[in-house]
Amino acid sequence: MSRIVYVNGDYLPEEEAKVSIFDRGFLMADGVYEVTSVLDGKLVDFDGHAKRLERSLNELDLVAPVTMDELLTIHRELVARNDLEEGGVYLQITRGAPADRDFVFPDPAETKATIVLFTQAKNLANSPAVQKGISVISIEDQRWARRDIKTVQLLYPSMGKMMAKAAGADDAWMVEDGQVTEGTSNNAYIVKGGKIITRQLSNDILHGITRAAVLRLAKEAQMEVEERGFTIEEAQQADEAFITSATTFVQPVVSIDGATIGKGEAGPVALRLREIYIDESRKKAI
Ligand code: PDD
Repeated sequence: MSRIVYVNGDYLPEEEAKVSIFDRGFLMADGVYEVTSVLDGKLVDFDGHAKRLERSLNELDLVAPVTMDELLTIHRELVARNDLEEGGVYLQITRGAPADRDFVFPDPAETKATIVLFTQAKNLANSPAVQKGISVISIEDQRWARRDIKTVQLLYPSMGKMMAKAAGADDAWMVEDGQVTEGTSNNAYIVKGGKIITRQLSNDILHGITRAAVLRLAKEAQMEVEERGFTIEEAQQADEAFITSATTFVQPVVSIDGATIGKGEAGPVALRLREIYIDESRKKAI
């Protein structure tokens, strides 16, 4: 069945939704996005995603075509119109479609940003990959230097997923100057002696909304958290490894570059964090 999507003020069947070939998102990857998860037909951490979106827009001098309140209404409307119980809402804002291709930004008074949203149904809470765990390979981080901005420049992360697939793995962790930055579309963690270790925030990684919630919940549960970089060798010696994102929540990693992590199964810290994260998300979703 066709979805109802949102484009520039209209709710339309997906086949009827259109964006110009001159759109700067299409020509120049000049746009930002967010993915907000949906549980029980409600939005998880909408505020966190809205704040990060505002920050991404500000960093790129991109003027939002809607207010954050309007954005919440649009998210809810799409969830309702598509009867979405579980999955996510994808949102993209680009610098719009000027009259011609030009490297110079168009005047925002003349060219309004393009805004598109659509829903994606997905089994999040009971994903079959959780108990089994996933395998990752390491690849060099060849992305640009402003990974804190959630832009639609996703070619290298896409290539990373393909490199993982070609190697028979599920995903890739990116490495820069010997240390893991993050996964292709998620934040990366290891656990050693009960301590949760994940790279500190900077322009080198995306400031994950799930990361923020999981680290807060870990601290509330008296777990020790250390925000610092780590190498692939250290990760291979860890007791556990896992990733977080809006589309995976907390997902155990059981193999890195062919080396088995811990017992080669979903670890207790990752599973506990996943459980408390999902519990809290269900309670707080709006
Ligand atoms: N990706 N790091 C990168 C590079 C990401 O692309 C993502 C999210 C994250 C986790 O962020 P959050 O917890 O806010 O989802 C970290 C989304 C899900 C995507 O591209 O589909």
